[in-house]
Amino acid sequence: MAFFPIKGFLGTGATFEADLNLVVQVVMGVALIAGSLLAKRKRYAAHGVCQTTVLLSNLGMIGLVMWPSFQQQVRPALPEGLHKWYFAAATIHALLGVMAELLGLYIVIVAGTHVLPQFLRFKNWKRWMRAELVLWSIVVLTGMGTYYAWYIAPFG
Ligand code: HEM
Repeated sequence: MAFFPIKGFLGTGATFEADLNLVVQVVMGVALIAGSLLAKRKRYAAHGVCQTTVLLSNLGMIGLVMWPSFQQQVRPALPEGLHKWYFAAATIHALLGVMAELLGLYIVIVAGTHVLPQFLRFKNWKRWMRAELVLWSIVVLTGMGTYYAWYIAPFG
């Protein structure tokens, strides 16, 4: 990406975008956990603002870093490359990441608007939001796994 420096800042040899994405994703993950504690304390408006902000900001990181990286580094090697961890980790991560974003958008639309008809709205909010937090955590972990497979394992 032309407007970023070439080298990262975490000392792993990763690109600048990868290091930036890693740090931003960890901060966003912490923000989501903090946001879930807001719900526990019944501060529902603040909870909604916090979780929605993270969900939408992450669309920015996907569009800026992860989607382009997937198209350039992974797509051309599929499906033949899947037996290599480099491509498999990123592909599993990308599939789960798309699911986590879509589920998150669905939850925000149900919880924050009235646009969906009754039969498309869930009633058990806690269960859906907990499931999303679990899925999101798995996506962050598989993202870290991708970072490891791309920038640490090959040089270890
Ligand atoms: C909830 C959504 C997501 C979260 C929390 C997330 C988290 C992460 C994290 C922590 C990393 C490691 C840092 C890095 O190497 O850049 C990463 C990397 C990556 N993610 Fe995601 N991700 C999400 C969605 C997606 C989606 C939808 C795609 C598919 C296009 C994707 C594709 C990638 C790729 C290709 C990398 C490696 C990028 C690189 O190092 O150049 N991610 N992700």
